[in-house]
Amino acid sequence: MSIFLDTSDVSEIKFFHEMGIIKGVTTNPSIMLKEGIKGGISGIKEASINIANLIAPLPLSVEVISNNYDDIINQSKEFSSWANNINVKITIHGPNGELENLVAVNKLEKEENIRVNVTAMMSTQQCYLAAMAGASFVSIFGGRVNNMGYSSNDEIKKLRKLIDDFGLNSKIIVGSTREALNVTEWLLNGAHIVTCTPDFIKTMIVHPYSKETVKMFLDDAKKL
Ligand code: E4P
Repeated sequence: MSIFLDTSDVSEIKFFHEMGIIKGVTTNPSIMLKEGIKGGISGIKEASINIANLIAPLPLSVEVISNNYDDIINQSKEFSSWANNINVKITIHGPNGELENLVAVNKLEKEENIRVNVTAMMSTQQCYLAAMAGASFVSIFGGRVNNMGYSSNDEIKKLRKLIDDFGLNSKIIVGSTREALNVTEWLLNGAHIVTCTPDFIKTMIVHPYSKETVKMFLDDAKKL
């Protein structure tokens, strides 16, 4: 069971990597945009190579930026060529429900030996089919599932049982973290990996009562 960092911010990645608590990094186009990455594919390439080298051999997910079938294949081949520890993120289907994405996933995994993280999924059944298509990682957006009024924990539990019972090799990544509690409860319900932004890790570490206790220890230490 692992925690991945959901960011493209190199200083945050470096800090928590040096802490030894992260076992991978995930990104997506929205995260990269928010964190100031520009310049199209060359900007993505520069940032991705930097991160991949920093955390090697830990995995880095980099998302393709087109839903055209040929672009998905070509970008997946290019992005994964940048470093051995880069896997490519491909959404479960296109913006209008286009289904060719899973054909690309199966081709990339089985014929091209490229690791794929199928993403933007909201249900057990989506993740199960992505796992059947051969995805190395299946990413369910737990926070968005909860926001829609469903139970992310139930979806994770069912998915983990299907993967284990059918001997599938995919690893479940749960993202879309909305509160620190998500991390431990999703891991305990069967997620192999939870990916969360640095803020949630800081929230999990720093506790108000610990701050008070540390102050007490240091004040008393001065009086020794
Ligand atoms: C995982 O890497 C996902 O892309 C990410 O956690 C999605 O988070 P959001 O639902 O806050 O966009």
